[in-house]
Amino acid sequence: MNEVLRAIKSRRSVRKYKTDQISQESLDLIIEAGVYAPTAHNEQPWHFTIIQNQEMLQHMNEKVKELMAKSDIDWIQKMSSNPNFQVTYNAPTLIIVSGRKDAMAWSADCAAAMQNMLIAAESLNIGSVWLGLLRFFFEQEEEVSKLGIPEGYQPYYGIALGFKAQEKEQIAPKRNLNVVNYIR
Ligand SMILES: Cc1cc2nc3c(=O)[nH]c(=O)nc-3n(C[C@H](O)[C@H](O)[C@H](O)COP(=O)(O)O)c2cc1C
Repeated sequence: MNEVLRAIKSRRSVRKYKTDQISQESLDLIIEAGVYAPTAHNEQPWHFTIIQNQEMLQHMNEKVKELMAKSDIDWIQKMSSNPNFQVTYNAPTLIIVSGRKDAMAWSADCAAAMQNMLIAAESLNIGSVWLGLLRFFFEQEEEVSKLGIPEGYQPYYGIALGFKAQEKEQIAPKRNLNVVNYIR
């Protein structure tokens, strides 16, 4: 199998990380992969906020947990009551991807960048996971103002990054391949 297909298929959402930090060189390669994603009208309407400050990461985790506990959605509330749950899984690096709100397809563009970064991380044997639950933090204007995101951009999703700490190789959740039709 070629290297690109191998990375696409072997990437898994990693939820256990070592504490050691990834190198700046690896991080630069991952971000570069992000900005090489396609964008509508080549607008490149994204901004990446890199958080490697432990206090900030801890604060974000506590805030998200506190807000998840108040959620009306059962599984979210339950998740927050697990004392071991950390929205960023103690990963040493968090990338927040923000989109320029006036761009024509900013959410699709940012999603393309996110996926490129996940695949690039896997190609470097760095673990990653796409984080949707950070939205609890992003919904708090006052909290978002601490992130230095440029005016006109909206935080979209996060990516946790770090060295994988699972003992066993992760098995991919089963994929449904029956999702194709042809017109030939
Ligand atoms: C939009 C989106 C939001 C997600 N949010 C979270 C999240 O907050 N926490 C988490 O652990 N995984 C999250 N995931 C990861 C999915 O759970 C994961 O991709 C899926 O279960 C398939 O597993 P795989 O990534 O190992 O192939 C998210 C994925 C996507 C695309």
